[in-house]
Amino acid sequence: MADSLAVQIDALGPRGDGIADHAGTRFYVAGALPGETVRARPGQKRGEGFAAALEEVLEPAPDRAVPPCAHFGTCGGCAVQHMADGAYADWKRGLVVAALERAGLDGAPVTPLVRTAPDGRRRAEFAAFRPRAKGAPTFLGFHERGSNRVVDIAGCHILRPDLLALVPKLRDVLAGIVPPGARWDVHVTLADNGADILVGAGHAPGPDAAMELAMFAEREGIARVSWDGPDGVEPVALRETPVLEMSGIPVEPPPGVFLQASAEAEAVLAGLVRDAVEGARIADLYSGVGTFSLPLAAGGATVHAVDSEAGALGALARAAGNAGFGGQVTTDVRDLAKRPLAAGDLKHFGTVVFDPPRAGAAAQAAELALSAVPRVVAVSCNPATFARDAALLVGGGYALERVTPVDQFFWSGHVELVGVFARG
Ligand SMILES: C[S@@+](CC[C@H](N)C(=O)[O-])C[C@H]1O[C@@H](n2cnc3c(N)ncnc32)[C@H](O)[C@@H]1O
Repeated sequence: MADSLAVQIDALGPRGDGIADHAGTRFYVAGALPGETVRARPGQKRGEGFAAALEEVLEPAPDRAVPPCAHFGTCGGCAVQHMADGAYADWKRGLVVAALERAGLDGAPVTPLVRTAPDGRRRAEFAAFRPRAKGAPTFLGFHERGSNRVVDIAGCHILRPDLLALVPKLRDVLAGIVPPGARWDVHVTLADNGADILVGAGHAPGPDAAMELAMFAEREGIARVSWDGPDGVEPVALRETPVLEMSGIPVEPPPGVFLQASAEAEAVLAGLVRDAVEGARIADLYSGVGTFSLPLAAGGATVHAVDSEAGALGALARAAGNAGFGGQVTTDVRDLAKRPLAAGDLKHFGTVVFDPPRAGAAAQAAELALSAVPRVVAVSCNPATFARDAALLVGGGYALERVTPVDQFFWSGHVELVGVFARG
């Protein structure tokens, strides 16, 4: 391994690593901040440069702060708890500005970062691991940074306290059923009437695990436990169908379906979308269970919701029907990457909303760029793919009116945003 070096940190990258350009080589130093001089040991090649392990902060930056979480630095969940809040908010907003600049959209209007509470996450994807050694405890937590080792979390500052309170109970039950050497994925969502748990292990549960999980659900008032096995998702325990109110409309999400990470961020995003749309007919592409479709329809619009997940669209349609505006909502199960709605299909809509996964919506943005839709609202959790898709829209004659970054993923390198486009 190379000798350690004293390097000056110039910037903070999108993953929260300090970036040093030293003697013609770029180093990425996790835990280091801009303006600091640190001693770091070069490691593996990363992109155009090298990762380097922080050994010592020789001259700390004025923005250095004490991380609130004992797991910070090991746990992969948070990247930047070691920075003062104001500098952190500037960095987050700056990630969006930089992505737009890289796509040639310099000077696009980016609002200040909209903040949400740090401990607001209502859903988490935990990893469970039981070592092979006899009597070794079962770990339940998040993956370590850059590793598939599991950090056995005792505390967490980003989970809702009632979700964190479930962790030791879940760990106890998993300790009795995860086989030695095995790793399971455990997704937990807090619905309004109890937790909704989805366990993935790559095999069928077996009668003992199913029984233990069903008893756990009964004991702890868990709404539903499902198992994601080779034959698909099946229920293990169903005490109550999980229900979540989204913009005041009850929705019954299928197991494992996409939901925004926090209820507060969901409300912020829905508000930003509602304020940006125009016209009585709206297409909501990548709609999921209806985070945007439902409030828009409740407000009187006619909404055409499109998603590749039939289960999500079924939940959306049922929620709209139960709320009394099912007649205003149509749904279409469709792969928008392979079969985007063509420019001609979009001509009746006053606004198109799209909220794709991290890969973005290049094919759909290309069709929108050819369309006459007066307004487009893009929601994204990835500034890089958003900027790429935004450049397609701008190339097609849209003006990017504003981009609002929303800090849904506190202390991580991820940022949510809403971009509003209008035809000139
Ligand atoms: C970021 S989520 C947004 C969901 C919803 N707008 C919300 O806020 O809850 C992305 C959605 O895109 C859907 N999706 C992923 N790939 C897709 C594809 N190729 N075509 C259509 N929908 C897709 C997923 O099922 C998911 O519901």
